[in-house]
Amino acid sequence: MSTTLHPHALLHADEKAPEAQDFMPLLGTDHVEFYVGNAKQAAHFYRTAFGMSLVAYSGPETGQHDRASYVVQQGKVRFVLTTALRASHAIAAQTQRHGDGVHAIALLVNDARQAWAAATERGAVCAQEPTTLRDEQGEVTLASIQAYGDTVHTFVERRGYRGVFLPGYRAIAQDTIARPVGLLHIDHMVGNVGWHQMDEWVAFYERVMGFRLYQHFDDNDISTEYSALMSKVMANGNGYVKFPINEPAEGRRKSQVEEFLDFYDGPGVQHIALATHDILHTVSSLQRQGVEFLRVPHSYYTELEQRIGHIDEPIRDLEELGILVDRDDEGYMLQIFTRPVEDRPTLFFEIIQRKGSRSFGKGNFRALFEAIEREQQARGNL
Ligand code: FE2
Repeated sequence: MSTTLHPHALLHADEKAPEAQDFMPLLGTDHVEFYVGNAKQAAHFYRTAFGMSLVAYSGPETGQHDRASYVVQQGKVRFVLTTALRASHAIAAQTQRHGDGVHAIALLVNDARQAWAAATERGAVCAQEPTTLRDEQGEVTLASIQAYGDTVHTFVERRGYRGVFLPGYRAIAQDTIARPVGLLHIDHMVGNVGWHQMDEWVAFYERVMGFRLYQHFDDNDISTEYSALMSKVMANGNGYVKFPINEPAEGRRKSQVEEFLDFYDGPGVQHIALATHDILHTVSSLQRQGVEFLRVPHSYYTELEQRIGHIDEPIRDLEELGILVDRDDEGYMLQIFTRPVEDRPTLFFEIIQRKGSRSFGKGNFRALFEAIEREQQARGNL
């Protein structure tokens, strides 16, 4: 472990004009690490249902005696599924409390020490000091800060690293059970925070990470007869990383964000949106492989063309799969949401195809929330 400040960090800070604002240039999402109760079985689910390939493993056989981690990948989407091997481990306490969920949103940077120093100077709480890991393939530097709840952001600097993931991981030559479905990259990752905490976390992303407000929705946009939420979408300087932040809003019944906070026992990642170029193919493959999606009523599709105008995809096909569509002045987008991927009503996934639109499907909120509420009702949580 080395804690010397890289000289580039100093140059960088001096050279940046204040108006450039991007004191934390992010190259994109490096990976997402989940803490789960049983990583071997979780990896099987992401491989056979979501079609990801197992590419690397770390555990007792590789010298990591307190945990096991499986790295699964499809396109640029890379998930790490980690489990504790003993009850006394801190990871076991987290999965006991939250169930399976996202622990780390790892962001690729050119200089992890500089990013960590910039964030902590601006008030971020350190989760892990900069640490350089080495093996015969090269070295990777990692550093983490606390985000909402027990979630962290890890800065990953892997310039020149030639290994499959990180030092200490063993490459898996070929995954014979993965069934890829055309997932390309992460479009956005949504956090649910507690009552009246949204603006605090919006301010955190602005101040600590140099993000800006990209879009926002209030309870007039996102409310049904029963429940409401407020949402602000934060984006980094180059727009590669987008984090919508939700908080519950007052409604007649318990909102989906409250249900999440209740079962996750605090703030956490609500959903991860995965991009595809061919949503009809991706979603029909996922459904065949057992991924369960939310459904909206037939009336959604009878009114669709009137609401959004002509689109390339046959509406009949969209209805068969349950895919939603929304349009703004730049184009349109297609999206669909899975049911929660754990028994707790917490983390779920979105599959999204953008055709010009950079929005988040505001026109679908009502139909979608009503679908979620039907499920909450079935769980007895509305
Ligand atoms: Fe989303």
